[in-house]
Amino acid sequence: MKNIDIIGIMAQDKDGLVGINNDLPWKDDPETKWDMKHFKKTTTGYPIIMGYKTFVTFKKPLKNRINFVIDSHDSLSEQENIKHAIETKEFNDTEFYTVDSLKTAREIIEQALDADKAYLIGGATTLIRAIINNSLDKLILTTFDKSYFKDNEDPVYLNLDSTDFVITDCRCHDNGKIEYLSFKKG
Ligand SMILES: NC(=O)c1ccc[n+]([C@@H]2O[C@H](COP(=O)([O-])OP(=O)(O)OC[C@H]3O[C@@H](n4cnc5c(N)ncnc54)[C@H](OP(=O)(O)O)[C@@H]3O)[C@@H](O)[C@H]2O)c1
Repeated sequence: MKNIDIIGIMAQDKDGLVGINNDLPWKDDPETKWDMKHFKKTTTGYPIIMGYKTFVTFKKPLKNRINFVIDSHDSLSEQENIKHAIETKEFNDTEFYTVDSLKTAREIIEQALDADKAYLIGGATTLIRAIINNSLDKLILTTFDKSYFKDNEDPVYLNLDSTDFVITDCRCHDNGKIEYLSFKKG
């Protein structure tokens, strides 16, 4: 059986903030649009995997990508569509497929999809768990130059300080940079 790469792709502000009130902190800032274009261009055509809380922030699946949601509390109960897709090897990019873990998503993609990689698009909890479990192969990380924190909102931070990674490439933009990171696996 083939092995796929799981590649994380996320954006943070200069303090590591990635989410506020279950949304992107910079969603109304036009100066961050370049990153949304980079995200779309990078992930289009590939399977994407996301945490449940990130799924809740979307109203519909991201287009032109097979969408997997890690529903670890099993509350979405949409397992029938995934069983059928695995059997027929026909996945639809207009719906979400729920899985109990990143490991299950990886197994399904390796067995039933013609892809050599999948993108783990967040949130912070899911990405950090993937790193801790040695399940992340690479990370593409945007860091904006600004701070987007506002009082009394529900901030989510990405704390990468304790992880073991090396920067393999870095591209600078007017309002931030995109770093390509590889992890040293134990
Ligand atoms: N900046 C970026 O690039 C980026 C990307 C994606 C998302 N975000 C932002 O990140 C934030 C969300 O990230 P996050 O780290 O909080 O979460 P997440 O990684 O998206 O999802 C994981 C969380 O979902 C919970 N969960 C799993 N199944 C569930 C279910 N059926 N019912 C309820 N909860 C369930 C998990 O609970 P357990 O701990 O019990 O397993 C865990 O706390 C949002 O603000 C989003 O906008 C930012």
